[in-house]
Amino acid sequence: MIEVPSRVSVRDLAKVFQDGEARVEAFAQITLEARPGEFLCLVGPSGCGKTTLLRCLAGIETPSAGAIEHRLEPGAPGAEQAMVFQQHGLFPWLTVEANLHFVLRESPVPRQEHDAIVQRLLERVGLARFRRFYPYQLSGGMNQRVALVRAFCVQPQVLLMDEPFVFLDYQNRIVLQDLLLELWQEQRQTILFVTHNINEAIALGDRVLVMPGTAGPFAREISCPFGRPRDVVQLRTNPDYQRIVVEVTQLLRQEQEHSLREGRIG
Ligand SMILES: Nc1ncnc2c1ncn2[C@@H]1O[C@H](COP(=O)(O)OP(=O)(O)OP(=O)(O)O)[C@@H](O)[C@H]1O
Ligand SMILES: [Mg+2]
Repeated sequence: MIEVPSRVSVRDLAKVFQDGEARVEAFAQITLEARPGEFLCLVGPSGCGKTTLLRCLAGIETPSAGAIEHRLEPGAPGAEQAMVFQQHGLFPWLTVEANLHFVLRESPVPRQEHDAIVQRLLERVGLARFRRFYPYQLSGGMNQRVALVRAFCVQPQVLLMDEPFVFLDYQNRIVLQDLLLELWQEQRQTILFVTHNINEAIALGDRVLVMPGTAGPFAREISCPFGRPRDVVQLRTNPDYQRIVVEVTQLLRQEQEHSLREGRIG
């Protein structure tokens, strides 16, 4: 068997927030390997450190212990990584296309390709007509679609997503899940995707990692063996899918109980 090198490697990572007497252990002993092109989902009780872990991976927070390694492809044309947040985070004073051009200018993507990338991706997600609109002139779902395009336009090798669809209604969530899978299938970067929605994690991911309710190693790793491309709605009729949803739900219930017993945020 050929060993596929991991794109993101995390070993024994821990993060403690210390503010005077107050000490919060966000997470501890986290080890994970994400392969190139893998779609990895993280679920876990509220307050178990998912956002902090992504922020450490993005370089926004510094871990207290352990190591993170991004093994990037040398000479690849795109950015090293991009992050998508719960809120779209678009600049309100820039139009849709100006928001995209802004991140492209900061990226290694050659200048002469920017216009074509913006045009193609906006068409791809049905927003070409809105290129000169400002974020306040768009709906929540449309803004989140722009945020998705903004992340993909720099062709990142690693994409970090923190509950990007949490504020969307059910139908918009499905639309965005479909778009995410389509864009990812074209570019195939490594994605780390945090969500509270178990159905979403299992429908999108190659694997789901369950963060523990007490600071410690991942509680479980579950494979989602459904092949690609996937229909995130049709998948719900699959008995294996239903079984995995129940399994992860029960596991999360246990971890939530641990978390409450430990007095972590529940
Ligand atoms: N800047 C900070 N200073 C102090 N403590 C923090 C800071 N950021 C996060 N924490 C603490 O770290 C722990 C983990 O927080 P984090 O936001 O990573 O959890 P989460 O799993 O993303 O939760 P949720 O599912 O509710 O989004 C919490 O106890 C939180 O209070
Ligand atoms: Mg969070």
